[in-house]
Amino acid sequence: MKQLQVSNLKNPIKTTILVPPDKSISHRSLIIGSIASGTTEIKNLLPSEDCLNTLKIIQHLGVEVNSFNNFETVTIYGKGLNSFSEPKSILNCGNSGTTMRLISGLLSAQSFLSILTGDDSLLNRPMGRVIEPLTLMGAKIFAREHNTKAPIVISPGILHGINYEMPISSAQVKSAIMLAALQAKGETKIIEKEKSRDHTERMLSAFGATIKYEKNEVIIGSEQKLHAQNIYIPGDISSAAFFIVACSIIPDSEMVLQKVSVNPTRTGIINTLKKMGVKIEITNKKDISGEPVADLFIKSSDLTGVEIKGNTIPLLIDEIPILCIAMAQAKGKSVIKDAKELRFKESDRIKTMVQVLKKLGVEVVELEDGLEISGLAGEPFKINSTVEWPKHSDHRIAMSIAIAALKANESIIIPGSEWINTSFPNFEKLINQLQMAAV
Ligand code: S3P
Repeated sequence: MKQLQVSNLKNPIKTTILVPPDKSISHRSLIIGSIASGTTEIKNLLPSEDCLNTLKIIQHLGVEVNSFNNFETVTIYGKGLNSFSEPKSILNCGNSGTTMRLISGLLSAQSFLSILTGDDSLLNRPMGRVIEPLTLMGAKIFAREHNTKAPIVISPGILHGINYEMPISSAQVKSAIMLAALQAKGETKIIEKEKSRDHTERMLSAFGATIKYEKNEVIIGSEQKLHAQNIYIPGDISSAAFFIVACSIIPDSEMVLQKVSVNPTRTGIINTLKKMGVKIEITNKKDISGEPVADLFIKSSDLTGVEIKGNTIPLLIDEIPILCIAMAQAKGKSVIKDAKELRFKESDRIKTMVQVLKKLGVEVVELEDGLEISGLAGEPFKINSTVEWPKHSDHRIAMSIAIAALKANESIIIPGSEWINTSFPNFEKLINQLQMAAV
């Protein structure tokens, strides 16, 4: 088991950081590239364990993929939607919910049998949410615990379009339906209560699919053909969030984060931190491969508590653990509501963040759908050095603890830090960069 030790920063941070490529867009570029006709070249793919699991799965489906320079450039030789071959072994999605849910949609209309599995965390996550709509489309899917948990068995199915009102807001479920809809007879309409990230819509459109998406609705035409594209993957705002919060909570700090995705379905963290008082400037904004990308300039300041709920939640769902650290440093009370989905992530993130905040000496109340946090108004986190930190097999929890350690009275040893590799392989290197930049 790996450990990461992080000690507090004695000085302000003044640095420029290049965050890793976006995980959601990386998964989609591999999957959509594999079903397009022609050679798709992906620049700057995220070489994290989750994305490499998606890459291995498309190779198991018979797609030729080459990679150069530690995944700097990945080339996919796509032959269209009906070109996959039956996988000879079980497809392992590891820790990645995005892989399991999107690949389920992709394989629902194939003419062969496939079986998907994952690690202990993934085997416990809800899969009924994706199996249900795919079954309504005509897919033949069987799974453990009355069709709700992986392993998932998908046998050949002939699909038809559906009108589907999503009971929860989820980009993974929406994307699984869209990938199935590309292969179905008849149009599919998906309606979300609150809009979730729209990377699949944007990328399918860039690859030439007939797709309309406006507000909370997606309409996708049937039996489509996609054409290979060249894609550049921008920096991941979910990874940037750890460093934005680090800069926000260390007095007199300034930081530039380069080439970060600023897709409006992902920028809830920027808007919320701005409301709390952080100075964030967005510069050099351009469109790259259908996604808005910009540089972010961050300046620390005194934070005040905030309440977030409703349609803001899907726009920052993965950033809530690190946002809790910012809220714990703010003056006054912060409240997070309507975020029950956090209980179904790599861990129950409401429960785990309550435990983490208590260990950091913060007053916190667990709500069924969120948390109430009484901020320390800029005072360092007070940890008792005798307190042992448990192993969290959840990358975003481990990274949130690491950022809190930069502002704690004692250094923190985070056990099981290898989990961070599922999304952010060079996290430790960047934490070291911060510590060097603040001496
Ligand atoms: C993701 C969607 C979100 C997010 C996950 C990545 C995606 O999950 O939490 O980390 O790439 O589509 P849900 O679809 O379950 O909300």
